[in-house]
Amino acid sequence: MRLDRFICKSTELVKYDAIQLIHNGEVFVNGVVVKNEAVQVHENNDISLNGQKLAARAFRYMLINKPANTLCSNVDGVYPSLFSLIDVERPSELHIAGRLDADTTGLVLITDDGRWTFSITSPSGQCHKVYRVKLAKPIATDAGESFLQGIALQGEQELTLPAKLQIITPQEVLLTLTEGKFHQVKRMFAAVGNKVVSLHRESIGAVSADVAEGEWRYLSADEVQSFYT
Ligand code: URA
Repeated sequence: MRLDRFICKSTELVKYDAIQLIHNGEVFVNGVVVKNEAVQVHENNDISLNGQKLAARAFRYMLINKPANTLCSNVDGVYPSLFSLIDVERPSELHIAGRLDADTTGLVLITDDGRWTFSITSPSGQCHKVYRVKLAKPIATDAGESFLQGIALQGEQELTLPAKLQIITPQEVLLTLTEGKFHQVKRMFAAVGNKVVSLHRESIGAVSADVAEGEWRYLSADEVQSFYT
C-alpha cells in the first residue's frame, strides 16, 4: 500500500497530516528517510515515525444485510449511506466489495482490504454471486440457455459470462453470476424481454446474508479466507 495510507492505517492521522510528516522527513522506511507519500510499502517493512516503529491495524471484514432505499456509498445521497447502519471507528477507511443498487436488498461485503475486494469482484476470481429475482412476467423457457451462452447487453461489446438460472416459479428465479457489470441483473432480464420487480443478493461465495435486514456482523477468519481459495 502507499506510504501515506500505511501511516493513516497505523496512527489516528488523516491523510493530509500524514503527507506533511512524510514531506518533513519524519518517516523512515527500513532505516531510510522517504519523502514521497506515494511510495509502495509492505506491512513487513520497518516503518517509523519520529523514531517510533509503526504497525498497521488489522484489516476489517464485515457483512451487512442491506435494506432497500440505502446507498452503497460512503456518503449519504438521495438515501442514507449503508455506513449509517454500521457503528464502527473510521468508517471512511472502509469500502464496499461489490455494490448493489439503492432498491436492491441483501448481502453486501465491506472491508478495507483492496486485494480481498479484487478477489471477490474480479471475474477472474470466479466468485459466485447468487441473486433472487422476482419478475414482472413469466420467465421465457429458453432464458436459461441464453444466460448460459451469454447475453449481449446494451452498450457492451462482449457477451456476459456464463450465468446459471434456476427457476423457482415462473416469476421467481435464482441467478448466479461471476461478474458485476453496472445494473447487470436488471439489464440481463431486460435483454430477454422481462423486467425485474425485486432483487435480493442471497450469497457471495460461501457467505450468505444470515443476519436480519439492516444488521451487520464481522466475518469469521474462515469466511475471509474462503475468497482466496
Ligand atoms: N444487478 C443489478 O441490476 N442490480 C444490483 O443491485 C445488482 C446486480
